[in-house]
Amino acid sequence: MAPHPATLIAGNWKMHTTPASARSLAKEVLRQLPQTLAAEVLLLPPFTALEAVHTAVRDDGRVRVGAQDCHWEREGAFTGEISVAMLAPMCDYILVGHSERRHLMGETDAVVRRKLDAVLREDLMPILAVGETREERDAGTTEAVLERQLRSALTGLRPGQVGRCTIAYEPVWAIGTGATATPDDASAAAGFIANLVRGLAGAEVRVLYGGSVTAAHAAELLQAPSVSGALVGGASLRAAEFAAIVAAA
Ligand code: PGA
Repeated sequence: MAPHPATLIAGNWKMHTTPASARSLAKEVLRQLPQTLAAEVLLLPPFTALEAVHTAVRDDGRVRVGAQDCHWEREGAFTGEISVAMLAPMCDYILVGHSERRHLMGETDAVVRRKLDAVLREDLMPILAVGETREERDAGTTEAVLERQLRSALTGLRPGQVGRCTIAYEPVWAIGTGATATPDDASAAAGFIANLVRGLAGAEVRVLYGGSVTAAHAAELLQAPSVSGALVGGASLRAAEFAAIVAAA
């Protein structure tokens, strides 16, 4: 059985907010959200604001908190890094393999795999981001790229472990550009991912779409077959718009 039945709407705040402004934004999100939610809602603040956001949403119970990245070791001489064990008291989820980590920070498939393993080892839930660049899509290699990223991240894991993963399909060319994938393209990629994971690991996974999601077209993306939620960047920094995306789910 799939452990993730619900749609997930996640807000990736990236390198925005201080602890104080993150606390205000989290409170404003709570104020704007519908009382009864049809979707699971997740906020991914920067490391330095996790404690503030965790404290701000804890008693309300409608919103979960996660981290945008982690290191793969539990502790040690890794200056500037943050381990999953350090994040666990404040987080349910950890995002790994975001394209900004892969393409701006040079993270390889092998590094992403080590991070995913670390999240599973500490019993948190990974969100694994995959996606092709514009050049890869134009060259017709989208599926090959997704397959390479997924095989590297998931091969050899048990179905129960893979079932705890959420996959975010985030075409690199759609992130922060205002150019969203069409619902058909998002659906095709999400369906391909779900099938591949089923074949690879015998597990059902939830597949999110990410890349310039706004309230204006959230509903059509979220209704696309095989798309089970959204990973929202820029629009998640505006509480009313983020709440509207949640309401569209
Ligand atoms: P965007 O970011 O919504 O600003 O395009 C999405 C993401 O990077 O997760």
